[in-house]
Amino acid sequence: MRQEEPSSEVASLSSTAVGLIPTMGALHAGHLSLIQRARQENGTVIVSIFINPLQFGPIEDYQRYPRTLDQDRHLCEQAGVDAIFAPTAEQMGIENWETKERIFNSSSPAASATPSLSQTQVVPPANMTLVMCGSRRPGHFQGVATIVTKLLNVVQPNRAYFGQKDGQQLAIIKRLV
Ligand code: PAF
Repeated sequence: MRQEEPSSEVASLSSTAVGLIPTMGALHAGHLSLIQRARQENGTVIVSIFINPLQFGPIEDYQRYPRTLDQDRHLCEQAGVDAIFAPTAEQMGIENWETKERIFNSSSPAASATPSLSQTQVVPPANMTLVMCGSRRPGHFQGVATIVTKLLNVVQPNRAYFGQKDGQQLAIIKRLV
């Protein structure tokens, strides 16, 4: 599987290829440009919409994250997306994730090191997660890496497309892929 970033070079269309754009919904112009690129390069384009509880910290309000599925569905239809994959947390094998809040909020020494004691997680190299934004968001990039791994395993795309707004996330996903 190739991990793609938007650029002026467009790979040739492969009619049997599947392109995946992982998102947390609330689709905007940046997502649409990734969809457009995927549309040019793959016979089948899938957008995943999953607000990943594992990548939110206690002061980052998971509950208030925008949920705009109807509007997202409409935008995907207009953009020629073949399928939306919008699983529940349970369907993604994420259980008891509420405990993350309790663990982060506790004064336990484990709190800063372990985002969720009840989850098996993908742990990217510490030298990529404990610096820059990762140093202020314990567990965030483990949560991202865990869900991206699950999405890639479930959808099995030939290509996946990620925005470049978060350079640290992009570098971690490249390493993971
Ligand atoms: O960048 C995002 O929208 C999310 O971090 C991602 C890659 C969809 C994983 O939840």
